[in-house]
Amino acid sequence: MADGKPIIFSGIQPTGAKHLGNFIGAIRQYVTGQDRGDPAIFCVVDLHSISVPYDPEDLRERVLDTAAILLAAGLDPERCIFFRQADVREHTEMTWYLSAVTSHGDLDRMTQFKEKTGSARELASSALFYYPVLMAADVLVYRGQEVPVGEDQRQHVELMREIARRFNARFGETLVVPELVLPKVGARIMDLQEPERKMSTTGGTPQGTVLVLDDEKAIRKKVGSAVTDSGREVRAAPDKPGVTNLIDILAVARGTGREEIEREFDGVGYGDFKAAVADGVVELLAPVRERYEEIRPDEAALEATLAAGAEKARAIASVTVADVRERMGFG
Ligand code: TYM
Repeated sequence: MADGKPIIFSGIQPTGAKHLGNFIGAIRQYVTGQDRGDPAIFCVVDLHSISVPYDPEDLRERVLDTAAILLAAGLDPERCIFFRQADVREHTEMTWYLSAVTSHGDLDRMTQFKEKTGSARELASSALFYYPVLMAADVLVYRGQEVPVGEDQRQHVELMREIARRFNARFGETLVVPELVLPKVGARIMDLQEPERKMSTTGGTPQGTVLVLDDEKAIRKKVGSAVTDSGREVRAAPDKPGVTNLIDILAVARGTGREEIEREFDGVGYGDFKAAVADGVVELLAPVRERYEEIRPDEAALEATLAAGAEKARAIASVTVADVRERMGFG
């Protein structure tokens, strides 16, 4: 399939409402990757979602919500492979094989596990601890070369690179070592109310989290009440996390850089600046919400799209799994 072209792979969880951080850090990158014309594979990672308590019926619904958002944002199943992770069993199988070259210490160093569990570590599922191996399997089973993600996934991508290198060193050249691909601006969108924390439906504030499906009124309210910093300048700086975050958001919405935004709003008050950011976010998200409303009700069509994607995905993944099994001495 690849014809020597780099394969792009990324995944997104179906749990939690998708927010502006997901959209800017990841979803937009998926669409540009697909539009570049290189093979692009994207999946809704429902297997990852069982690492925290969940309801099976709800999971099914959330997979469809997430799939509809990605399609509404511009993924085109004619031009990329788009599927549900659990439909392709090679992911789970590959996870086990890769565990042979993943140490307990590797997983113990993962900061996201520590952040997510805090003092409740003993009670966390082993799936949550093991999550990065499944994530490595997701990419390596397609011999993915580029992994577009937000900054919070950096450590996981570094680990999958290490797992691929170790597998090749131990069993012979088989897997591809993938590259982390971060967006130039917006790799870490922060919570609008607490700009020291990343925007997140689990760790952030509801008022500081703009959802992809928020209507115009909700967006204006959230952006309008965003925390700014002391001073009055619209300037990106480490001691101005609130303003810096809004500059990044507007830069993405306008398709420009930080400097252009700083220049345009030089001497303009925070009120007008925030109104411009709200306009930008509304323009960015409104078309996605509108298309979502059209796509989401047709569950049979969504299921058919995911099933067709899974079939294409399986055709690639099964080849890698066969190579891996051969190298590892099975069968
Ligand atoms: P998930 O579902 O938490 O997030 C999906 C994508 O959104 C990015 N993201 C952000 N980007 C910028 N600012 C933020 N505040 C922000 N919050 C989230 C994430 O970096 C991610 O790219 N483990 C992954 C899913 C996954 C995956 C994979 C990704 C499973 N297998 C294989 C790539 C390749 C996750 O939980 O992402």
